Amino acid sequence: MSVLIKNGRIVTAVDDYHADVFINDETVTLIGRDLVIDADTVIDASGRLVIPGGIDPHTHIEMPFGGTVTSDTFETGTRAAAYGGTTCIVDFAIQSRGTSAIEALDTWHAKAAGRTAIDYAFHMIITDLPASRIPEMRRLADEGVTSYKLFMAYPGVMLSDDATIFRALRKAGEDGTLVCMHAENGVVIDELVRIALEQGEIAPRQHALTRPTRLEAEGAHRALAIAEVARAPVYIVHLSCYDALHELRQAQARGVMAHAETCPQYLLLDVDAYDAPGFDGAKYVVTPPLRESWNQDELWRGLRFGALDVISTDHCPFCMKEQKALGRDDFSKIPNGGPGIENRMSLIYHHGVSAGRINLNRFVELTSTAAAKIFGLFPKKGTIAVGSDADVVIFDPEREETISVHNPRTHHMNIDYSAYEGFRVKGYTETVLSRGKVVIDRGEYVGRAGDGAFVRRGPYGGAHA
Ligand code: URP
Ligand code: ZN
Ligand code: ZN
Repeated sequence: MSVLIKNGRIVTAVDDYHADVFINDETVTLIGRDLVIDADTVIDASGRLVIPGGIDPHTHIEMPFGGTVTSDTFETGTRAAAYGGTTCIVDFAIQSRGTSAIEALDTWHAKAAGRTAIDYAFHMIITDLPASRIPEMRRLADEGVTSYKLFMAYPGVMLSDDATIFRALRKAGEDGTLVCMHAENGVVIDELVRIALEQGEIAPRQHALTRPTRLEAEGAHRALAIAEVARAPVYIVHLSCYDALHELRQAQARGVMAHAETCPQYLLLDVDAYDAPGFDGAKYVVTPPLRESWNQDELWRGLRFGALDVISTDHCPFCMKEQKALGRDDFSKIPNGGPGIENRMSLIYHHGVSAGRINLNRFVELTSTAAAKIFGLFPKKGTIAVGSDADVVIFDPEREETISVHNPRTHHMNIDYSAYEGFRVKGYTETVLSRGKVVIDRGEYVGRAGDGAFVRRGPYGGAHA
């Protein structure tokens, strides 16, 4: 099968020009002006942007968490991602305490294989790491899982102590792999949660009050310092506030190989969301919590000037009915996480590019290229170039939509609310190719479960490599 995309404006992290793109089977094989070549399918991209498919390196699909399981399956979650212009996710498999990470990887492979609309890869969440199991990190890397996530939060469940974090960072540094850190002081947070509940404070807003920015900054500072001593790169996930960004910048200035992502929820929503009527504040119980709105300008600045490398979603959907409802009488029992896999590209285009906060090249870099480089997917993914996978989004910069759980064009995630309800966006994904196959055709899903394949990732590639 071959596809010719004609007359588009090709934008990568570094280029911006008008040309045609020829795709043979799964790969871009020719780029040039006014190509005259036979193709099975011809797509006219006049007036459209032709950009690399989005890469979302932080998703939780079918993940057991907080006494329930995230509501998107690999089928529904990746299909929604495709609708929104994302063509590759890196999801989190979980190694539970006392068990093998290799077995955990098998479990996650069994969940995803043959079900996804787009390509997928895995990070491994490590919850304990005795000396006897350190070699598993190398074995995971040999299987194409070249990054891990460790938690400083959730004592007794996910939290790793500093010795474990140091051990993992050292091993990753030796192997050329990457540790992702959930940076929050979970021990102190648990004390704050206990005190709040003792005082009868049960409402969703308490989630934010018991997880202050200083405790995220403390976690970031500690993670960055441990990485510095371990001489290893580190990637701070879901950075939400100025206090943590400040720690990141300090570490980068010292020469630490420090990367970080933020997410649309921290750029576009704020702490006042917890004051929504009734129990609706639970929709926004994500971790770290939403912050005071002044943090948003600081995060945009961090994205614009390079301290922050990536915009991921941390898509971690729980329905209000039956899932978030578990915490109706106790905010600490509200499953932590929110939806967003479908909305990222349009939200960031509208509020980033159109609002003049980032330029188009930076948009592509933040939503695709940098993640591809950092997580060992580049140049197969993350760009449009001869030899790259034909993961291509044809994006209509003029199309306007109102994001809503009730809008069948903007909501395909398996969840009963939208975190961005009522947000108007200009700029929307029109057609999506996943390794050369059209999976979204002018807003219609035309793919099938199983189009996507597991991607074995290479070593850590740095953001500016
Ligand atoms: O609220 C969130 N982010 N839930 C998912 C787990 C995590 O820490 O990423
Ligand atoms: Zn986390
Ligand atoms: Zn997460």
